[in-house]
Amino acid sequence: MSWIPLPEDHPTPSLVVDAQTVEQNLMRMQQYCHEHRLSLRPHTKTHKSIRMAQRQIALGAKGLTVAKVGEAQQMFQASRDLFLAYPAIGTSRLQRLETLVRACADQSDGTKTEGRIAVGIDSLQAAERIAQTARKIGLPIGIMVDLDVGFHRTGVESSAQAVELCAWVSKQTELEFRGVMCFPGHILPAASTEAWSQYQDAIASVVDRLNLLGIDVPVISGGSTPTAKESHRNPILNEIRPGTYIYNDWNEVSLGVASIDDCAARVVATVVSVPSKNKFIVDAGSKTLSSDRNCVEPESGFGKVVDFPEAKVSRLSEEHGEVVFPETHAGPRPQVGERVWIIPNHICVCVNLQNSFFLYRQDSPEPGGLEELAVDARGMLV
Ligand SMILES: Cc1ncc(COP(=O)(O)O)c(C=O)c1O
Repeated sequence: MSWIPLPEDHPTPSLVVDAQTVEQNLMRMQQYCHEHRLSLRPHTKTHKSIRMAQRQIALGAKGLTVAKVGEAQQMFQASRDLFLAYPAIGTSRLQRLETLVRACADQSDGTKTEGRIAVGIDSLQAAERIAQTARKIGLPIGIMVDLDVGFHRTGVESSAQAVELCAWVSKQTELEFRGVMCFPGHILPAASTEAWSQYQDAIASVVDRLNLLGIDVPVISGGSTPTAKESHRNPILNEIRPGTYIYNDWNEVSLGVASIDDCAARVVATVVSVPSKNKFIVDAGSKTLSSDRNCVEPESGFGKVVDFPEAKVSRLSEEHGEVVFPETHAGPRPQVGERVWIIPNHICVCVNLQNSFFLYRQDSPEPGGLEELAVDARGMLV
Protein backbone atom coordinates (compact mmCIF):
# COMPACT_ATOMS: atom_id res chain seq x y z
CA MET A 1 0.00 0.00 0.00
CA SER A 2 1.65 3.20 -1.21
CA TRP A 3 1.12 6.92 -0.43
CA ILE A 4 0.72 7.83 3.25
CA PRO A 5 1.80 5.28 5.89
CA LEU A 6 -1.20 4.59 8.13
CA PRO A 7 -1.28 3.06 11.62
CA GLU A 8 -2.81 -0.40 11.81
CA ASP A 9 -5.88 0.88 13.68
CA HIS A 10 -6.68 3.74 11.28
CA PRO A 11 -10.45 3.61 10.64
CA THR A 12 -11.77 2.85 7.17
CA PRO A 13 -13.34 4.00 5.03
CA SER A 14 -11.98 7.48 5.65
CA LEU A 15 -10.74 10.49 3.78
CA VAL A 16 -7.06 11.30 4.16
CA VAL A 17 -5.58 14.60 2.99
CA ASP A 18 -1.88 15.18 2.44
CA ALA A 19 -0.99 18.66 3.76
CA GLN A 20 2.11 18.96 1.60
CA THR A 21 0.19 18.32 -1.64
CA VAL A 22 -2.50 20.77 -0.53
CA GLU A 23 0.15 23.41 0.08
CA GLN A 24 1.65 22.86 -3.37
CA ASN A 25 -1.75 23.06 -5.07
CA LEU A 26 -2.62 26.25 -3.21
CA MET A 27 0.72 27.92 -3.82
CA ARG A 28 0.74 27.13 -7.53
CA MET A 29 -2.72 28.65 -8.02
CA GLN A 30 -1.85 31.70 -5.94
CA GLN A 31 1.35 32.16 -7.92
CA TYR A 32 -0.54 31.92 -11.22
CA CYS A 33 -3.01 34.56 -10.03
CA HIS A 34 -0.18 36.79 -8.87
CA GLU A 35 1.58 36.52 -12.25
CA HIS A 36 -1.59 37.36 -14.15
CA ARG A 37 -2.90 40.01 -11.74
CA LEU A 38 -6.01 38.05 -10.94
CA SER A 39 -7.74 38.01 -7.59
CA LEU A 40 -8.29 34.52 -6.23
CA ARG A 41 -11.56 33.79 -4.47
CA PRO A 42 -11.49 30.00 -4.00
CA HIS A 43 -14.76 28.10 -3.91
CA THR A 44 -14.88 26.38 -0.52
CA LYS A 45 -17.52 23.84 -1.56
CA THR A 46 -14.63 21.44 -2.26
CA HIS A 47 -13.05 21.28 1.20
CA LYS A 48 -15.82 22.73 3.41
CA SER A 49 -13.12 23.21 6.02
CA ILE A 50 -12.42 26.37 7.99
CA ARG A 51 -8.77 25.35 8.40
CA MET A 52 -8.31 24.97 4.63
CA ALA A 53 -10.07 28.27 3.97
CA GLN A 54 -7.82 30.02 6.48
CA ARG A 55 -4.79 28.67 4.66
CA GLN A 56 -6.14 29.93 1.32
CA ILE A 57 -6.59 33.39 2.83
CA ALA A 58 -3.15 33.31 4.48
CA LEU A 59 -1.55 32.54 1.11
CA GLY A 60 -3.21 35.56 -0.52
CA ALA A 61 -6.78 34.73 -1.53
CA LYS A 62 -8.83 37.93 -1.56
CA GLY A 63 -11.92 36.30 -0.08
CA LEU A 64 -13.92 33.10 -0.36
CA THR A 65 -16.71 31.73 -2.50
CA VAL A 66 -19.50 29.54 -1.16
CA ALA A 67 -22.67 28.20 -2.72
CA LYS A 68 -25.05 28.29 0.22
CA VAL A 69 -25.63 30.57 3.21
CA GLY A 70 -24.99 27.71 5.66
CA GLU A 71 -21.52 27.30 4.17
CA ALA A 72 -20.96 31.04 4.47
CA GLN A 73 -21.89 30.90 8.15
CA GLN A 74 -18.97 28.48 8.64
CA MET A 75 -16.50 30.18 6.31
CA PHE A 76 -17.17 33.46 8.09
CA GLN A 77 -14.58 32.20 10.59
CA ALA A 78 -11.94 32.33 7.87
CA SER A 79 -12.95 35.53 6.04
CA ARG A 80 -15.61 38.22 6.13
CA ASP A 81 -15.27 38.80 2.41
CA LEU A 82 -17.66 36.13 1.19
CA PHE A 83 -19.32 35.64 -2.15
CA LEU A 84 -22.40 33.41 -2.38
CA ALA A 85 -22.25 32.25 -5.98
CA TYR A 86 -25.82 31.03 -5.81
CA PRO A 87 -29.14 32.90 -5.95
CA ALA A 88 -30.42 33.50 -2.38
CA ILE A 89 -34.00 32.50 -3.15
CA GLY A 90 -36.38 31.28 -0.42
CA THR A 91 -37.50 32.79 2.88
CA SER A 92 -35.31 30.61 5.06
CA ARG A 93 -32.23 31.29 2.95
CA LEU A 94 -32.89 35.03 3.04
CA GLN A 95 -33.35 34.96 6.82
CA ARG A 96 -29.98 33.27 7.16
CA LEU A 97 -28.46 35.80 4.77
CA GLU A 98 -29.79 38.55 6.99
CA THR A 99 -28.09 37.00 10.05
CA LEU A 100 -24.88 36.61 8.09
CA VAL A 101 -24.78 40.18 6.81
CA ARG A 102 -25.45 41.47 10.32
CA ALA A 103 -22.70 39.26 11.76
CA CYS A 104 -20.26 40.44 9.08
CA ALA A 105 -20.96 44.05 9.93
CA ASP A 106 -20.36 43.57 13.67
CA GLN A 107 -16.85 44.40 14.74
CA SER A 108 -15.40 42.74 17.81
CA ASP A 109 -15.37 46.16 19.53
CA GLY A 110 -19.13 46.50 19.07
CA THR A 111 -18.93 49.08 16.25
CA LYS A 112 -20.38 48.45 12.79
CA THR A 113 -18.51 48.10 9.54
CA GLU A 114 -19.71 47.56 6.00
CA GLY A 115 -20.13 43.84 5.39
CA ARG A 116 -18.41 42.30 2.40
CA ILE A 117 -21.11 39.79 1.56
CA ALA A 118 -22.10 39.55 -2.09
CA VAL A 119 -24.65 37.31 -3.76
CA GLY A 120 -24.73 36.09 -7.37
CA ILE A 121 -28.16 36.45 -8.96
CA ASP A 122 -29.64 36.22 -12.43
CA SER A 123 -33.18 37.61 -12.00
CA LEU A 124 -34.93 40.79 -10.99
CA GLN A 125 -37.00 38.78 -8.49
CA ALA A 126 -33.85 37.66 -6.67
CA ALA A 127 -32.41 41.19 -6.74
CA GLU A 128 -35.65 42.65 -5.35
CA ARG A 129 -35.75 40.16 -2.48
CA ILE A 130 -32.15 40.85 -1.55
CA ALA A 131 -32.83 44.60 -1.73
CA GLN A 132 -35.76 44.10 0.70
CA THR A 133 -33.47 42.20 3.08
CA ALA A 134 -30.82 44.92 2.86
CA ARG A 135 -33.45 47.61 3.52
CA LYS A 136 -34.79 45.73 6.52
CA ILE A 137 -31.41 45.44 8.22
CA GLY A 138 -30.09 48.80 7.05
CA LEU A 139 -26.90 47.33 5.63
CA PRO A 140 -25.89 47.16 1.96
CA ILE A 141 -25.57 43.77 0.26
CA GLY A 142 -23.26 43.26 -2.69
CA ILE A 143 -24.63 41.89 -5.93
CA MET A 144 -22.84 40.10 -8.74
CA VAL A 145 -24.93 39.46 -11.81
CA ASP A 146 -24.54 35.92 -13.11
CA LEU A 147 -23.98 35.68 -16.89
CA ASP A 148 -24.53 32.54 -18.92
CA VAL A 149 -21.35 32.29 -20.99
CA GLY A 150 -22.21 28.92 -22.52
CA PHE A 151 -22.59 26.38 -19.71
CA HIS A 152 -26.38 26.93 -19.75
CA ARG A 153 -27.07 26.41 -16.05
CA THR A 154 -27.87 29.65 -14.23
CA GLY A 155 -26.95 33.05 -15.64
CA VAL A 156 -28.68 35.65 -17.79
CA GLU A 157 -28.54 34.43 -21.37
CA SER A 158 -29.16 37.63 -23.28
CA SER A 159 -26.61 40.41 -22.92
CA ALA A 160 -29.33 43.07 -23.27
CA GLN A 161 -31.23 41.60 -20.30
CA ALA A 162 -28.02 41.27 -18.32
CA VAL A 163 -27.24 44.96 -18.90
CA GLU A 164 -30.77 45.86 -17.81
CA LEU A 165 -30.45 43.83 -14.61
CA CYS A 166 -27.00 45.26 -13.78
CA ALA A 167 -28.29 48.79 -14.42
CA TRP A 168 -31.29 48.18 -12.13
CA VAL A 169 -29.04 46.85 -9.36
CA SER A 170 -26.65 49.77 -9.68
CA LYS A 171 -29.52 52.21 -9.03
CA GLN A 172 -30.64 50.61 -5.76
CA THR A 173 -29.21 52.36 -2.74
CA GLU A 174 -29.54 49.20 -0.61
CA LEU A 175 -27.53 47.16 -3.07
CA GLU A 176 -23.92 47.50 -4.05
CA PHE A 177 -23.32 46.49 -7.66
CA ARG A 178 -20.04 44.63 -7.47
CA GLY A 179 -19.81 43.27 -11.00
CA VAL A 180 -20.48 40.15 -13.02
CA MET A 181 -19.76 36.47 -12.52
CA CYS A 182 -19.94 33.42 -14.73
CA PHE A 183 -19.19 29.72 -14.53
CA PRO A 184 -17.38 28.46 -17.64
CA GLY A 185 -18.12 24.78 -16.94
CA HIS A 186 -18.26 24.03 -20.69
CA ILE A 187 -14.68 25.18 -21.30
CA LEU A 188 -12.50 22.11 -20.92
CA PRO A 189 -8.80 21.72 -21.72
CA ALA A 190 -9.53 20.77 -25.34
CA ALA A 191 -11.67 23.90 -25.91
CA SER A 192 -10.90 25.72 -29.15
CA THR A 193 -9.61 29.28 -29.45
CA GLU A 194 -13.05 30.10 -30.81
CA ALA A 195 -14.72 28.81 -27.63
CA TRP A 196 -12.39 30.99 -25.57
CA SER A 197 -13.21 34.07 -27.66
CA GLN A 198 -16.94 33.37 -27.38
CA TYR A 199 -16.45 33.15 -23.63
CA GLN A 200 -14.70 36.51 -23.61
CA ASP A 201 -17.24 38.12 -25.98
CA ALA A 202 -20.17 36.97 -23.82
CA ILE A 203 -18.74 38.99 -20.93
CA ALA A 204 -17.41 41.93 -22.96
CA SER A 205 -20.79 42.50 -24.62
CA VAL A 206 -22.24 43.20 -21.17
CA VAL A 207 -19.32 45.04 -19.59
CA ASP A 208 -18.73 47.35 -22.58
CA ARG A 209 -22.37 48.40 -22.67
CA LEU A 210 -22.40 49.03 -18.93
CA ASN A 211 -19.29 51.18 -19.25
CA LEU A 212 -20.97 53.18 -22.04
CA LEU A 213 -23.85 53.77 -19.63
CA GLY A 214 -21.33 55.06 -17.09
CA ILE A 215 -21.68 52.00 -14.85
CA ASP A 216 -18.46 50.73 -13.44
CA VAL A 217 -17.98 46.93 -13.28
CA PRO A 218 -15.34 46.47 -10.60
CA VAL A 219 -15.29 42.67 -10.48
CA ILE A 220 -15.39 40.27 -13.44
CA SER A 221 -15.30 36.82 -11.89
CA GLY A 222 -14.90 33.56 -13.76
CA GLY A 223 -12.95 30.42 -13.22
CA SER A 224 -13.33 26.75 -12.58
CA THR A 225 -10.45 24.38 -11.92
CA PRO A 226 -10.16 23.21 -15.55
CA THR A 227 -10.00 26.81 -16.83
CA ALA A 228 -8.23 28.41 -13.86
CA LYS A 229 -4.64 28.40 -15.07
CA GLU A 230 -5.75 29.33 -18.60
CA SER A 231 -7.62 32.42 -17.41
CA HIS A 232 -5.14 34.74 -19.17
CA ARG A 233 -6.81 33.54 -22.40
CA ASN A 234 -9.83 35.57 -21.29
CA PRO A 235 -8.10 38.82 -20.28
CA ILE A 236 -11.34 40.55 -19.30
CA LEU A 237 -11.42 38.50 -16.07
CA ASN A 238 -9.96 40.05 -12.94
CA GLU A 239 -11.00 37.34 -10.46
CA ILE A 240 -11.26 33.54 -10.55
CA ARG A 241 -13.06 31.10 -8.26
CA PRO A 242 -11.63 27.59 -8.66
CA GLY A 243 -12.53 25.13 -5.90
CA THR A 244 -11.45 21.61 -6.82
CA TYR A 245 -7.78 22.61 -7.33
CA ILE A 246 -7.07 22.35 -3.58
CA TYR A 247 -7.49 18.55 -3.60
CA ASN A 248 -8.00 17.57 -7.27
CA ASP A 249 -9.70 14.28 -8.14
CA TRP A 250 -9.93 11.61 -10.80
CA ASN A 251 -12.04 13.91 -13.01
CA GLU A 252 -9.24 16.48 -13.06
CA VAL A 253 -6.66 13.75 -13.79
CA SER A 254 -8.87 12.42 -16.61
CA LEU A 255 -9.19 15.92 -18.02
CA GLY A 256 -5.41 16.31 -17.95
CA VAL A 257 -5.62 19.23 -15.52
CA ALA A 258 -3.89 17.43 -12.62
CA SER A 259 -1.55 14.48 -12.16
CA ILE A 260 -2.07 11.62 -9.72
CA ASP A 261 0.55 13.22 -7.47
CA ASP A 262 -1.58 16.40 -7.32
CA CYS A 263 -4.50 14.47 -5.80
CA ALA A 264 -4.26 15.54 -2.16
CA ALA A 265 -7.40 13.82 -0.85
CA ARG A 266 -7.93 10.09 -1.15
CA VAL A 267 -10.19 7.52 0.41
CA VAL A 268 -8.59 4.65 2.25
CA ALA A 269 -10.73 1.52 2.19
CA THR A 270 -10.34 -2.02 3.50
CA VAL A 271 -10.82 -5.12 1.36
CA VAL A 272 -13.62 -6.93 3.20
CA SER A 273 -14.22 -9.79 0.78
CA VAL A 274 -12.58 -11.48 -2.19
CA PRO A 275 -15.53 -13.44 -3.62
CA SER A 276 -13.72 -14.57 -6.78
CA LYS A 277 -10.34 -14.44 -8.46
CA ASN A 278 -10.94 -11.22 -10.34
CA LYS A 279 -13.11 -9.37 -7.87
CA PHE A 280 -12.73 -7.79 -4.46
CA ILE A 281 -15.07 -5.79 -2.25
CA VAL A 282 -14.04 -2.72 -0.27
CA ASP A 283 -15.84 -0.98 2.59
CA ALA A 284 -16.25 2.26 0.59
CA GLY A 285 -19.54 2.39 -1.29
CA SER A 286 -21.69 5.22 -2.58
CA LYS A 287 -21.97 6.67 0.95
CA THR A 288 -18.22 7.27 0.87
CA LEU A 289 -17.20 7.76 -2.75
CA SER A 290 -20.51 9.20 -4.09
CA SER A 291 -22.14 7.73 -7.19
CA ASP A 292 -20.65 10.37 -9.47
CA ARG A 293 -19.33 8.95 -12.70
CA ASN A 294 -16.14 10.08 -14.36
CA CYS A 295 -16.77 13.18 -16.48
CA VAL A 296 -14.49 12.03 -19.31
CA GLU A 297 -15.17 8.28 -19.32
CA PRO A 298 -18.48 7.62 -17.54
CA GLU A 299 -18.05 3.84 -17.87
CA SER A 300 -14.58 3.77 -16.33
CA GLY A 301 -15.78 3.20 -12.75
CA PHE A 302 -16.43 5.10 -9.54
CA GLY A 303 -12.92 6.29 -8.80
CA LYS A 304 -9.36 5.06 -9.27
CA VAL A 305 -7.80 2.34 -7.12
CA VAL A 306 -4.30 3.76 -7.14
CA ASP A 307 -2.40 0.59 -6.16
CA PHE A 308 -4.20 -1.53 -8.75
CA PRO A 309 -4.48 0.70 -11.83
CA GLU A 310 -5.93 -2.11 -13.97
CA ALA A 311 -8.84 -2.58 -11.58
CA LYS A 312 -12.19 -0.88 -12.02
CA VAL A 313 -14.63 0.15 -9.27
CA SER A 314 -17.44 -1.32 -11.31
CA ARG A 315 -20.46 -1.18 -8.98
CA LEU A 316 -21.37 0.54 -5.73
CA SER A 317 -23.89 -0.30 -3.05
CA GLU A 318 -24.22 2.06 -0.14
CA GLU A 319 -21.43 0.42 1.88
CA HIS A 320 -19.79 -1.88 -0.67
CA GLY A 321 -17.51 -1.04 -3.53
CA GLU A 322 -17.09 -3.86 -6.06
CA VAL A 323 -13.73 -3.79 -7.78
CA VAL A 324 -12.97 -6.02 -10.75
CA PHE A 325 -9.82 -6.93 -12.63
CA PRO A 326 -9.87 -7.63 -16.36
CA GLU A 327 -9.77 -11.35 -17.29
CA THR A 328 -6.24 -10.80 -18.58
CA HIS A 329 -4.98 -9.41 -15.27
CA ALA A 330 -1.72 -11.09 -14.34
CA GLY A 331 -0.44 -8.81 -11.57
CA PRO A 332 -0.94 -8.93 -7.80
CA ARG A 333 -4.39 -9.02 -6.19
CA PRO A 334 -5.24 -7.74 -2.70
CA GLN A 335 -6.07 -10.03 0.23
CA VAL A 336 -8.95 -9.69 2.69
CA GLY A 337 -7.94 -7.12 5.30
CA GLU A 338 -5.58 -5.20 3.00
CA ARG A 339 -6.14 -1.49 2.58
CA VAL A 340 -6.27 0.34 -0.72
CA TRP A 341 -6.24 4.00 -1.74
CA ILE A 342 -9.00 5.27 -4.00
CA ILE A 343 -9.07 8.66 -5.71
CA PRO A 344 -12.76 9.59 -6.06
CA ASN A 345 -14.10 10.86 -9.37
CA HIS A 346 -15.53 13.98 -7.78
CA ILE A 347 -13.87 15.00 -4.53
CA CYS A 348 -16.34 17.78 -3.63
CA VAL A 349 -19.25 15.37 -3.27
CA CYS A 350 -17.06 12.83 -1.49
CA VAL A 351 -15.94 15.41 1.10
CA ASN A 352 -19.56 16.37 1.78
CA LEU A 353 -20.27 12.72 2.67
CA GLN A 354 -17.72 12.66 5.50
CA ASN A 355 -18.04 14.02 9.04
CA SER A 356 -14.29 14.41 9.23
CA PHE A 357 -11.04 13.95 7.35
CA PHE A 358 -7.51 13.08 8.44
CA LEU A 359 -4.89 15.67 7.62
CA TYR A 360 -1.45 14.09 7.26
CA ARG A 361 1.66 16.05 8.03
CA GLN A 362 4.90 14.18 8.52
CA ASP A 363 6.04 16.48 11.32
CA SER A 364 2.67 16.61 13.08
CA PRO A 365 2.70 15.69 16.79
CA GLU A 366 -0.55 13.71 16.27
CA PRO A 367 -0.21 9.89 16.29
CA GLY A 368 0.88 8.77 12.83
CA GLY A 369 1.05 12.45 11.79
CA LEU A 370 -2.72 12.33 11.27
CA GLU A 371 -4.95 15.06 12.66
CA GLU A 372 -8.69 14.44 12.49
CA LEU A 373 -10.55 17.59 11.42
CA ALA A 374 -14.26 18.21 11.02
CA VAL A 375 -15.74 18.87 7.59
CA ASP A 376 -17.18 22.07 9.04
CA ALA A 377 -19.69 22.93 6.33
CA ARG A 378 -20.71 19.36 5.63
CA GLY A 379 -24.36 19.07 4.60
CA MET A 380 -24.91 22.84 4.75
CA LEU A 381 -27.25 22.90 1.81
CA VAL A 382 -29.48 25.83 2.75
C1 LIG B 1 -20.38 29.10 -9.47
C2 LIG B 1 -19.16 28.26 -9.35
N1 LIG B 1 -17.98 28.86 -9.23
C3 LIG B 1 -16.83 28.15 -9.10
C4 LIG B 1 -16.85 26.77 -9.12
C5 LIG B 1 -15.56 26.01 -8.95
O1 LIG B 1 -15.25 25.19 -10.04
P1 LIG B 1 -14.38 23.86 -9.89
O2 LIG B 1 -15.19 22.88 -9.15
O3 LIG B 1 -14.11 23.43 -11.30
O4 LIG B 1 -13.15 24.22 -9.16
C6 LIG B 1 -18.08 26.11 -9.27
C7 LIG B 1 -18.15 24.65 -9.32
O5 LIG B 1 -19.16 24.02 -9.43
C8 LIG B 1 -19.26 26.87 -9.39
O6 LIG B 1 -20.47 26.29 -9.52
